Amino acid sequence: MEKIFETQNVEQTEKLGAAVGKLLSEGDFLALTGDLGAGKTAFTRGIARGLGIDDAITSPTFTLINEYHDSVTLAHMDVYRLKNLEELQNIGFDDYLKGYIVVMEWADKVKEMLPVEVLWIDFRVVGDSLRQLKFTSNSPYYDKIVQELSV
Ligand SMILES: Nc1ncnc2c1ncn2[C@@H]1O[C@H](COP(=O)(O)OP(=O)(O)OP(=O)(O)O)[C@@H](O)[C@H]1O
Ligand SMILES: [Mg+2]
Repeated sequence: MEKIFETQNVEQTEKLGAAVGKLLSEGDFLALTGDLGAGKTAFTRGIARGLGIDDAITSPTFTLINEYHDSVTLAHMDVYRLKNLEELQNIGFDDYLKGYIVVMEWADKVKEMLPVEVLWIDFRVVGDSLRQLKFTSNSPYYDKIVQELSV
């Protein structure tokens, strides 16, 4: 299923992220795609807040993966600068597929490596501070999460 949300500022994007975060559990995988500066990291900041994680969320552009350990563990990945799939394998990508909530920015770059079931969220810059977030789910599990989102 597909569902489109619009946000009018960064706070709304974070709020939507927090609403999603509240519905997530370990083993879940969110694949974020879309324009540079469209709000993927801001959204992830909201997810962390929804999960009850208090740490400051910074972009993992250079580190590839940032981990946040709380009552759940969030792995925030950004594969924008990834050179090849081996590099992702080498940092132990497979180990993150169990026991973590994974949020990956630029996930379309590594499609071949993703679990079969993921929740895709595509970010589009519509205006100065207007963003469109398109949720695409390919499983009953993620359908339910998208359906439960009332913002
Ligand atoms: N509606 C909005 N939602 C999110 N961010 C917004 C919005 N309007 C303006 N912004 C601004 O856009 C920028 C989004 O930055 P952010 O780092 O979250 O993007 P990103 O998609 O993670 O970029 P990158 O691809 O470089 O990682 C911020 O400067 C934020 O203040
Ligand atoms: Mg980012």
